[in-house]
Amino acid sequence: MTLSLAWDFELTHVQHSKRHRLRGLATGLGAGTVFGENALLLLLQELSMKSRIGTPLSPAATKVMLLGAGELGKEVIIALQRLGVETIAVDRYANAPGHQVAHRSHVIPMADAKQLRELVERERPYIIVPEIEAIATDALVEIERDRLAEVIPTARAAQLTMNREGIRRLAAETLKLPTSPYQFADSLPDLMGAIGNGIGYPCVVKPVMSSSGKGQSLVKSADDLIKAWHYAQSGARVKQNRVIVEGFIDFEYEITLLTVRALGASGTVETFFCEPIGHVQVNGDYVESWQPQPMRAAAAAKARAIAAQVTGDLGGRGIFGVELFVKGDEVWFSEVSPRPHDTGMVTMCSQVQSEFELHARAILGLPVDTSLRAPGASAVIYGGMDAKGIAFENVAKALEVPQSDLRLFGKPESHPKRRMGVALANGPDINEARLRAKLVASRVKPVKA
Ligand SMILES: Nc1ncnc2c1ncn2[C@@H]1O[C@H](COP(=O)(O)OP(=O)(O)OP(=O)(O)O)[C@@H](O)[C@H]1O
Ligand SMILES: [Mg+2]
Repeated sequence: MTLSLAWDFELTHVQHSKRHRLRGLATGLGAGTVFGENALLLLLQELSMKSRIGTPLSPAATKVMLLGAGELGKEVIIALQRLGVETIAVDRYANAPGHQVAHRSHVIPMADAKQLRELVERERPYIIVPEIEAIATDALVEIERDRLAEVIPTARAAQLTMNREGIRRLAAETLKLPTSPYQFADSLPDLMGAIGNGIGYPCVVKPVMSSSGKGQSLVKSADDLIKAWHYAQSGARVKQNRVIVEGFIDFEYEITLLTVRALGASGTVETFFCEPIGHVQVNGDYVESWQPQPMRAAAAAKARAIAAQVTGDLGGRGIFGVELFVKGDEVWFSEVSPRPHDTGMVTMCSQVQSEFELHARAILGLPVDTSLRAPGASAVIYGGMDAKGIAFENVAKALEVPQSDLRLFGKPESHPKRRMGVALANGPDINEARLRAKLVASRVKPVKA
């Protein structure tokens, strides 16, 4: 375990020629023998101590490629830039938020395995950071296998979490974690059968491949079922009929438990937890979040145990957003993002190191600090209209709110429910922070330019 982690870590930090020399040396030492293992361990530990970051745009640059350059990717890029990393932003459309702050940008359909592979071969990043789910993950598996680049946290994690079926079966069936009851269905009769055979009403129907609540509906009775089925077809990311139907969990509150797998003082990967983030979702999309969400000790311990298990199985280094439902001392696993989480934007004001800085540090093999700085909250700012190149008015008035801040993502095109910015605020407690963040968001007025 230690050997391969240290080895992988060092591989991302040395030049190509040196990589080959090291690989030869490692093979020569004979990792299979006791002496070989110890010698190799020492060598690699020594090497990893020399973790270094080169100068961007020079032959020694530490190159990181972001696949997906939305508002979350943009913040990861900024965090990497601050550490002197050369950044390459990739998205499906031009002038995406992350494109605007990276050293180089590319526009490709990331679900196209051939184009993705070609771009990676051209750019030769040491590290690839998937920032969205809709990626040709088969290509990532091959890139990892061919040791072309390291995939964060692992290609398998990206693959399992891009499809609700992969991660749900891992969590519920392999790891035996508590989840909502669920079944998969490929047709309307199948779906009816699944609900009749135990899932019951109310239930939640979701396409297996979708995010941000797209195609998802709460089904209260048989009357809503046909509509839910068709809505799921329209919201799916890829042309596929398959849906998951989940029993509705009547939770008291839901949290995102940001969990970081990073190199600890021991030189091996350790698991670190942030304070829980509470949030409100409307139609499956986040509108407001805050940190820390108060929890009973038993529920908090269960949440951390679940998060440790699922992230431990997914492996690698980086931050994960573990979504959990809570009622009293009971905790259910819902899903996990092997990357920063939208509800975690609050950490830009509430933590010593934001989720983006934590991700950047974990990726680079640097130490992390997950401690809370002050209670904080975030509130989403929607576009409110279909238009290109919109403007935001009343920004000064919005930022008169005490201890507040703002991120405007710079998305070239607005839609009524497209997230265009986020308001942030601290306060003496989460209630005050939430009021402030919502006030800031309500004051910012998107207008046609
Ligand atoms: N089985 C369930 N019981 C109760 N509420 C649910 C259930 N499944 C989903 N929800 C609600 O819908 C929200 C979105 O669901 P989910 O996270 O599965 O969708 P998503 O499209 O992946 O959203 P995102 O990408 O924003 O995380 C949840 O945060 C929760 O509020
Ligand atoms: Mg979710």
